[in-house]
Amino acid sequence: MAKITAGIACSHVPAIGVAMDQHITEQPYWQPVFEGFEYSREWNKKNKPDVVFLVYNDHCTAFDASVIPTFALGCAAEFTPADEGWGPRPVPVVKNHQEFASHIAQSLVLDEFDITIMNEMDVDHGLTVPLSVMFGDKTPEDDWGTLVIPLAVNVVQYPAPTANRCYALGQAIRRAVDSWDEDLNVHIYGTGGMSHQLQAQRAGLINATWDQQFMDILVNEPEKARKISHVEFLRETGSEGIEMVMWLVMRGALDEKVTEVHRHYHVPASNTAVGHLILENHA
Ligand code: DHB
Ligand code: FE
Repeated sequence: MAKITAGIACSHVPAIGVAMDQHITEQPYWQPVFEGFEYSREWNKKNKPDVVFLVYNDHCTAFDASVIPTFALGCAAEFTPADEGWGPRPVPVVKNHQEFASHIAQSLVLDEFDITIMNEMDVDHGLTVPLSVMFGDKTPEDDWGTLVIPLAVNVVQYPAPTANRCYALGQAIRRAVDSWDEDLNVHIYGTGGMSHQLQAQRAGLINATWDQQFMDILVNEPEKARKISHVEFLRETGSEGIEMVMWLVMRGALDEKVTEVHRHYHVPASNTAVGHLILENHA
């Protein structure tokens, strides 16, 4: 049976990818950011997933204002790293487990989560940066070392889905995975965040106290975390802090009680508070 054994939360700041691609992670600015991921890479090797179910957001790369799916599941055979203006990142093409993705699409829709099905999609920093963080340096000739099923969540154009809806979707993803017969070790990623605002009067906003409390609540009191409102995310964590609703999808797919095996928090990377958690399922 396929099993979700762990959930990983991780910021996706594009400059983290650039630092890896340019091999400058040892520079004083970057060293403390990457130091916090050293444990994660070792843990990832020991607990190697067959499939990563990667919840992320597209940043007007695959989608623009003409089409705004709230939840879009990647069902293509593969996903090409996108050109976001400086050429595509020099990282491997992302390979799907297409049959499993199709099963999840069916299970979600029959479970009344009417996701959009993507049979063609380029993937931007929202997806490739968390993979780089967990799997380390890769060239386009390598493979990632895991199959990846992407789920793109709209957090760019109002209205984004609520934390509560994201949590419920995570629970439905858990049911979909649990009903797939093949023996697969599945990790689920919730990406983006933490506090950051890239625009207008409050650009540069960081709220370390709130971010740390959010991690505590997400891990230990998920029923409380799922009730956090859009207004609270925006007020406390800035306009882009709303990306954290994606962490709720990840948390909803895990057991009620989980073991926090790793936490990393660092301010800043670019304009953003970097947050990272590794949570293991008890069962
Ligand atoms: C930054 C952070 C993001 O989440 C993003 O999507 C783009 C840029 C930043 O801090 O630079
Ligand atoms: Fe972002």
